[in-house]
Amino acid sequence: MDNINGLDVKHLAEEFGTPIYIYDCEQIKINYTKLKKSLDRYYSKNSIHYSLKANSNLRILEYIATLGAGADCSSPVELELAQRSGFTNSKILYTGNYESEEDLKKAIEFSVRINLDDISSFKRLIKLTVPEILSFRINPGIGKGGFEGITTAGSDAKFGVPYEMAYDAYKLAKDVGVKRFGIHMMTGSNNLEPYYFAEIVEKLMTIAGKIFIPLDIQPEYVDIGGGLGVPYYDDEKELDIELTAKLISEALKEKSAKFGFGEPELILEPGRYIIANAGYLIAKVTGVKKSYKTFVGLDAGMNTLIRPALYGAFHKVDVYGKTNKTNLVTLCGQICENSDIFAKNLPFPEVEDGDIVIFHNSGAYGYSMSSNYNNRMRPAEVMIINGKPQLIRRRETLDDILTGII
Ligand code: LLP
Repeated sequence: MDNINGLDVKHLAEEFGTPIYIYDCEQIKINYTKLKKSLDRYYSKNSIHYSLKANSNLRILEYIATLGAGADCSSPVELELAQRSGFTNSKILYTGNYESEEDLKKAIEFSVRINLDDISSFKRLIKLTVPEILSFRINPGIGKGGFEGITTAGSDAKFGVPYEMAYDAYKLAKDVGVKRFGIHMMTGSNNLEPYYFAEIVEKLMTIAGKIFIPLDIQPEYVDIGGGLGVPYYDDEKELDIELTAKLISEALKEKSAKFGFGEPELILEPGRYIIANAGYLIAKVTGVKKSYKTFVGLDAGMNTLIRPALYGAFHKVDVYGKTNKTNLVTLCGQICENSDIFAKNLPFPEVEDGDIVIFHNSGAYGYSMSSNYNNRMRPAEVMIINGKPQLIRRRETLDDILTGII
């Protein structure tokens, strides 16, 4: 793979330097539109709230806002970014966890819908205000994600109100004077199995019945979180989004009819699905070492893309102009940690210093999880829009590292 949306990767690397994240806006639009069309076909009252944590470059957010998306924000700064990039407040949901009073104050100030992680959060909130509309993130007791670290429900998860306590949470909120309600869950990230989504929607709706019928509440929205996966390995199958939308809608409609809920708004909060395959990390080979194994070192590392080191995640890698993968190498970065490894026993071409390496599927949780570890600068970011590359964040400099020191 030598070009991104028709642009030669080597030229991009020469023009902007490495390591660099490159995002293809056309692919973002394809992903968003595909999901939106599938949802529209089966459940017209739907909203896609892009999850800012996946990638929150302001220019990318502006682009996603123009597609018509809402936003899922998890911190005050994400609220700020969502507002500055043109998402309307009515289409923003704030979902924190262990939300501080300051966090809640910000969410109130921005007048966005608030989705609380716990009853204890509600107690903090009502010291500040009683909102007109509210939801709780429910832990439905089951969760699934691509790795343990991204499984966000079930008994080991730190998130959400345990479903056995959900009724108490809503009763308290109603008693205190909240008038309108929704319900939320986020059970795990990077799922590729449509029937899993059907299962959790059914589970959440069964829980909703047990809460809302006795409390005589009509839920206005059902937010099933993100979690739509993308294939990272060649042998993984793409998530069948059409079938997923169909199954989610069927489960939602069936339970809504049964419980007399009318037609609540269906909200999805995808991050990865919208941006992962639109992003590439481009790096340069900085050294090849024939040691006990063959190590290929790059100018990008766990500081640039932490997913392999953190979760054991895999990102497919190509080398510019070289397709003959005759060697087995350990691909690593320059950080002083032995977990700074992208892949072991990786089929790889014969490379030399200066060769350009292209990591796929790096648009989500790439830059947003990068760091300055070892005092390496965060990379620059470029987006390709209307066929042209545009620098949307400059590379960090020493001044950025020194900023804030007193
Ligand atoms: N909504 C909520 C409340 C979330 O916590 C998340 C992600 C999303 C939506 C978006 O999930 P997505 O559609 O991207 O699966 N850093 C990990 C992923 C962590 C996801 C955490 N929550 C990774 O690199 O795989």
